[in-house]
Amino acid sequence: MKKEKVLVTSALPYANGPIHLGHLSGAYLPADIYVRYKRLNEDDVIYICGSDEHGVAITITAEKEKISPNEVIDRYHKANLQAFEKFGMSFDIYSRTSILEHHKTAQEFFTDFYKRNLLTEKKTLQFYDSKAEMFLPDRYVEGTCPRCGNEEARSDECEKCGALYEPSELKNPKSKVTGTTPIMKETSHWYFPLGKYQERLEDYVNEHKQKYSWKENVLQYCNGWFKEGLKDRAVTRDLDWGVKVPLETATGKVLYVWFEAVLGYISATKKLGEQRGNPDLWKDYWQNEESKYIAFIGKDNIVFHTIIFPAMLLAWNDGNSDKYILPQNIPANEFLNFEGKKFSKSRGWGIDVDEFLKMFPADSLRYTLAANLPENKDTDFYWKEFQARNNNELADILGNFVNRTFVFANKHFEGIVPKTENLQQIDIEMLNLISKAPEKIAELIENFHIKDAVLEMMNLARLANKYFNDSEPWKTIKINKQICANTINVSLQTIYTLATILEPVIPFSAEKMFKMLNTEKTNWLDSGKSIVKTGTKLNSPEILFTKIEDKTIEELIAKLPSNLVEEEKEIPISIDEFEKVKLKTARILEAERIKKSDKLLKLQVLIGSEKRQIVAGIGKSYSPEELIGKNIVVVANLKPAKLFGEESKGMLLAVEDSEGKLALVGIPDNVNPGTSVH
Ligand code: MF3
Ligand code: ZN
Repeated sequence: MKKEKVLVTSALPYANGPIHLGHLSGAYLPADIYVRYKRLNEDDVIYICGSDEHGVAITITAEKEKISPNEVIDRYHKANLQAFEKFGMSFDIYSRTSILEHHKTAQEFFTDFYKRNLLTEKKTLQFYDSKAEMFLPDRYVEGTCPRCGNEEARSDECEKCGALYEPSELKNPKSKVTGTTPIMKETSHWYFPLGKYQERLEDYVNEHKQKYSWKENVLQYCNGWFKEGLKDRAVTRDLDWGVKVPLETATGKVLYVWFEAVLGYISATKKLGEQRGNPDLWKDYWQNEESKYIAFIGKDNIVFHTIIFPAMLLAWNDGNSDKYILPQNIPANEFLNFEGKKFSKSRGWGIDVDEFLKMFPADSLRYTLAANLPENKDTDFYWKEFQARNNNELADILGNFVNRTFVFANKHFEGIVPKTENLQQIDIEMLNLISKAPEKIAELIENFHIKDAVLEMMNLARLANKYFNDSEPWKTIKINKQICANTINVSLQTIYTLATILEPVIPFSAEKMFKMLNTEKTNWLDSGKSIVKTGTKLNSPEILFTKIEDKTIEELIAKLPSNLVEEEKEIPISIDEFEKVKLKTARILEAERIKKSDKLLKLQVLIGSEKRQIVAGIGKSYSPEELIGKNIVVVANLKPAKLFGEESKGMLLAVEDSEGKLALVGIPDNVNPGTSVH
């Protein structure tokens, strides 16, 4: 097979908190497995990652803890790098966006766009804290939600009721910095004309989707954005912390964190080249048609990698002779939850990598996560499942097979690989299995079906165990030593294949297996070709996996915060209280989008003979056309509210599906609008 040149990146984690298992499953472990496989396959691959060190979240942490943003990023950059290393991540570089090289790269893009008149300057009104003398980003303003009265609503969005509004509609706005009431003050920002690239981006996505079978979840997000229509996006912010806008007139302004963070992949590659004494290395991967770029991310990062970053690269390519390649694939994963609920740092729900690895080996975690990757839907980490995978699969299947083979080789063949002669059908079948496995698994990994690949790997170990049992070497050793020798030789060949194909998933154990076999790694495809030489002196066996006791796991489960369960417990209400809520059926007569909002639709509905207007946040899940004529359920006696300047009298009922799409609670066609729902 032709060697491929491959550039692989994983989303740059914010240096603002520790890495937890959810992060690993989303963007890091799958990438590491892919990269390790590629290296074994002798492809020319580099794997890039690093800390994302700007953004408002970091300055908020700094203020909370009364330390400087620099201290925040230093702490978490180091901690995360260490946790990743312990977990066995094999980055070629773990860079950071605070380095000079990064600032230069990001400014270079901005300046190029600016000089070529791609950016437009627009004036807007924004909250300003006169006491702190600063403009307040969204997250720095809190107030009362114009719809539900929630007093902790954000400046343009209420997390409690989901309302979206203009910052000017927020009641009682307060600055989080000084607690004073902010004023609205004019500011100006530069906008990137994302809309201009819509057609080319659609072509890009469509072409790649077909050629490289992009994942369904990724396409759904893209299509949602395209349908909505891409709009200009501000690429600057009024902040101190970040990459300075390289214009004399732009004091107090930095580049929007996402605009520069994605360029962190490029600056990190430049840094790698510098470290390797090859300053042009980055061009060989980023500006080389022969190279392919794969970006691993979690689902919350999709739009930035499928639309915004490619648009920026296209914009650069239009005006420069050194042209960047675009991502060939973006195999975004869904989320991993923890014991049935979302990871939540503030509620103490979940576990950090560092904490985990103080208790259990990295390979046990890697294997469990890999076998359960959220490739197509959200999945969960359960302590019990972790224990079962470790004990029943790693220890009982793989560990046991390796151990039995070595015990036999030592006891009856003086720890030397015995030679084969007159192989029997059962041996030939086993050799056949190991010769085919690498190719089969390679195909799965190449197509990012990593979970299935892991299943195949363990299946091979399962079949190896069965082969050992069926061959009954404890019997043949007494009857015909050559038959037993054949079994042991073939088993050792199988261990070699297993070590190779499992290396991407359990690299620490694979290393031990190669060492025990006293045989060097070869490449992926050759690993099934009986590589272990007859006569090799084996090294003494090591324990690969230790079983985890019930007690250990039960203690961990008992330690989970129980108040979380409490929090979600329902508060009982009386029938009288429920009767206060008037649920009625309604029929949708008209529907249209509200300008400037991608979520909100303005609906005219019929409740009995009354026609009413309701503003509903279902615009990302339904198009206006498909709603007309639908029968739905509404809360008819909700206090009227104004959203984006539009009157809303009532609320409709909807449920969220597993993909985060809303589905209206439906009513059969033959029910009249205005009927009470009990
Ligand atoms: N820091 C972001 C997050 O954790 C990811 C940034 S990815 C990059 O969600 F491409 F912008 F670097
Ligand atoms: Zn609200």
